[in-house]
Amino acid sequence: VDIRKLARSSVLLLEPFKVEPLKGYVRLSLNENPTLPPAFLRNVYEEAWSLVNRYTPFEVLDAFKEEIAVYNHLRPINVFPGPGADYLLMLIADVFLGPNKVAGMLEITYPVYEEEARKRESAVLKAPMSRSFSVDIDDIAYVASQSDVLFLCNPNNPTGNLVVFTLEEMEQIMKKAKGLVVVDEAYYEFSGFSVSPLLSKYDNLIVIRTFSKGFALAGMRVGYLLASPQVVDILSRATQPFTTSVSSLMVATEAVKNARYAYENARKMKEELYRIRRSLMGMGFRVFPSVTNFLVVEAPPGVWRRLYNHGVLTRFVKTIRDEHGKPVRELIRISAGGKSDITALLNAMAKVVGKL
Ligand SMILES: Cc1ncc(COP(=O)(O)O)c(C=O)c1O
Repeated sequence: VDIRKLARSSVLLLEPFKVEPLKGYVRLSLNENPTLPPAFLRNVYEEAWSLVNRYTPFEVLDAFKEEIAVYNHLRPINVFPGPGADYLLMLIADVFLGPNKVAGMLEITYPVYEEEARKRESAVLKAPMSRSFSVDIDDIAYVASQSDVLFLCNPNNPTGNLVVFTLEEMEQIMKKAKGLVVVDEAYYEFSGFSVSPLLSKYDNLIVIRTFSKGFALAGMRVGYLLASPQVVDILSRATQPFTTSVSSLMVATEAVKNARYAYENARKMKEELYRIRRSLMGMGFRVFPSVTNFLVVEAPPGVWRRLYNHGVLTRFVKTIRDEHGKPVRELIRISAGGKSDITALLNAMAKVVGKL
């Protein structure tokens, strides 16, 4: 049997996901948090052992929603958990995208939006970005007016900047929106800016968050979305009921009750990022400002590959070409790692620059 013929052709066009190793490499490609979360969370993880033989009890889910609501000044009926923000994006696409639908997004943004749209044979419409990654709010509003689902990453991955800075700007977009507007605030604990105060006004707005970044719990796989009770109700019909593990929910509940550690982590990572930024600028690179735990560097072609060959994993964003199609620059995204990771990165970069 030709299995490829059995699969949806839209899926065959996607690239297989490759998991990157940790041992023997400096991994600055996944915007992870290099520090372990506080030790008291480990006690909760161990407590969760007493429930490993059970499916999630109501009380565990209820406590999670309660604490998330407190953290975001909303009500538990506005909260919907999931095993990571990526799962929630997939669920939204499952329910609201499909053939003949349009997914809107920024020109350079988190690739999952386009993948989920393409998988479901939806059209993709993009708002243009300038060379410094700024976006005209009118352009986003136009894309919103044409989209069944607009995915807005704020701050934007991979560019590191906020694209919407104020609630007024967000309202400009909401007023034009034809469908749902999903604002992915995965890096909220770093940027400190959220459009969540608008949730009470717009029932087509969804805010997505994760415990993977500021809270340093990427391996636990927990995220949540904030939305109107109507959106939460529809998603509750489409999801599988026990996707987020009991231990993840319990640990995340305790983590959000102690969110100060996430902000403290964020502050430290931003300091590390300054160090990378200053050093790379000193080596002559153009480095873009960032309000997240990663930054984008404009480098000569081949730098990403050479760093890789030195065991330093970063994320290749795109090639910039001249008018004849010749590669002139490449954009590379680098996460703020721990001190030793950054020293390794800078040493590798110095060697790469020396040979350019
Ligand atoms: C913008 C954005 N959304 C979602 C995710 C995925 O988060 P999670 O680990 O919760 O699936 C990431 C992770 O890199 C991200 O950068």
